Amino acid sequence: MKELSLNVLDIAENSVRAKANHVWILLDETETELQISIRDDGCGMSEDFLARVTDPFSTTRTTRKVGLGIPFFKMEAEQTGGWFRIRSSQDPENHGTETTAFFCKNSIDYIPLGDIVETICTLIMGAPAIDFIFEHKYPGGETTLKTSEMREILGEEVPLSSPDVICWVRESLRESYSDNQYDAS
Ligand SMILES: Nc1ncnc2c1ncn2[C@@H]1O[C@H](COP(=O)(O)OP(=O)(O)OP(=O)(O)O)[C@@H](O)[C@H]1O
Ligand SMILES: [Mg+2]
Repeated sequence: MKELSLNVLDIAENSVRAKANHVWILLDETETELQISIRDDGCGMSEDFLARVTDPFSTTRTTRKVGLGIPFFKMEAEQTGGWFRIRSSQDPENHGTETTAFFCKNSIDYIPLGDIVETICTLIMGAPAIDFIFEHKYPGGETTLKTSEMREILGEEVPLSSPDVICWVRESLRESYSDNQYDAS
């Protein structure tokens, strides 16, 4: 991927496909490190499936189609000297998945975060009924968005996917980043 924000999109789209009601996208960043965590309360994966899901060279792939979103995210974190972890549960009381990737930003193999605002807008457009909780902490400040709060203000009759709402999300996130002098490139 050219930008980590595209990996975030891919991993969060897995959560949407897993029929999550809530998707948390949490970024914790310092001058030298970036931790990205995507958590959902979707259907989760079985232990068997989870064990295979991070390995693109697994022989089970020939008998079962498995995608590359998770293996790529893992590889991109590890190639910077960072780490990757995925946890998942199908427990009816506590089901869901958490994917965490840690990046060392000084590595020559570090891929910039890129346009995370567009990733958030794309997710909301594609799944306006899901509660997205976005929190990005970085040295200059914090940029956050909770779609449940927007829904409360706008009321049920305005879908969050409407162009005006998406425009507002895009502008307000961009404004927050520029107020805090954040540059993701
Ligand atoms: N959050 C999740 N909840 C439940 N199952 C998941 C989740 N994330 C991934 N999976 C399962 O793991 C599989 C592999 O995910 P991965 O992102 O690597 O590939 P993909 O989504 O199938 O294809 P691609 O990302 O390449 O388009 C998914 O098809 C899905 O079955
Ligand atoms: Mg995927």
